[in-house]
Amino acid sequence: MAEIGKNIETAKRLLEMGELVAIPTETVYGLAGNALNEKAVLEIFKVKNRPQFDPLIVHVANLEKAKELVEDFPGKAEKLATRFWPGPLTLLLKKKVHIPDLVTSGLETVGVRCPDHELTRSLLQQLSFPLAAPSANPFGYISPTRPEHVNEQLGEKIKYILDGGECLVGIESTIVGFENDFPIVYRLGGLSIEKIELVVGKVSVQLNSSSNPQAPGQLISHYAPKKKMKLGNLDELLRTHKTERVGVLTFQKQRDQLDNQIVLSASGNLEEAAQRLFASLRALDKKDIDIILAEEVPNIGLGKAINDRLRRAAAG
Ligand code: TXA
Ligand code: MG
Repeated sequence: MAEIGKNIETAKRLLEMGELVAIPTETVYGLAGNALNEKAVLEIFKVKNRPQFDPLIVHVANLEKAKELVEDFPGKAEKLATRFWPGPLTLLLKKKVHIPDLVTSGLETVGVRCPDHELTRSLLQQLSFPLAAPSANPFGYISPTRPEHVNEQLGEKIKYILDGGECLVGIESTIVGFENDFPIVYRLGGLSIEKIELVVGKVSVQLNSSSNPQAPGQLISHYAPKKKMKLGNLDELLRTHKTERVGVLTFQKQRDQLDNQIVLSASGNLEEAAQRLFASLRALDKKDIDIILAEEVPNIGLGKAINDRLRRAAAG
């Protein structure tokens, strides 16, 4: 198992030697390596068992550092970065040549993001290179929001997990790219469309899921538990599956006389629901049940990203 600790020096030393370290962010834990070191980047794909056609996000301490990685920073990108960094926003921008093609899977753009977590920001400030970091889970499985989640699945393959406690946002960053300065959202995430539109006006949403998508990680079955999962009207699902051992993920309303039930937010708060989503799916996945039954949440604000993750989880 990996060591779980709060020692930035240890993390820094390992990363400088080209090794991988799991790092906390406000969204989910990342599996980090030196983004400019091809061997380290290759190791990330290996440890995650991730296909090399799925590009990695590069993490930096601030906007100035992000600018060193890209050819130019369009006006709207800069507005978004200024307003929302550090935070759950990834910008796709034209990459400079020194970013290895392996990081971007040969694409012309690189995903850059400045994560909002004190430990990781301080680590990034002390490093002389940016960190490539996908979510620290095996490819296709639910993303980790606590250090123990990382240890359960990747603990044998890495030495150190920087312990930043529980992730406060709980779902991955929102990914935004640009076409002729027009913003396009490629992945729904921890920053809502509504908030983005307040800053840059109307955006279009292109959630790709076909065979050669712009954001290949947007494969339809993703974030999936190992157990079978169904999404729909919970009361109907409960009737159809009444002879099976079910686990239930509800948004707000508790269903009486049911074991193995998790309520995402009793007060109906979408931020709280997002924060608890992945840990709840993991917990249900470990229960002695046949199937996980879940319902969608209201489709506004972070609810859109939560529903996106639920649909993908159920498509697995
Ligand atoms: O919140 C997050 O973004 C977390 C934390 C660790 O920062 N990271 C994360 O990384 O979710 P990952 O690798 O699990 O998901 C990154 C997504 C993938 O769907 C990938 O295809 C897409 O970003 N992506 C990365 N670079 C891209 C690029 N240049 N063009 C299109 N999609 C890109
Ligand atoms: Mg991921």
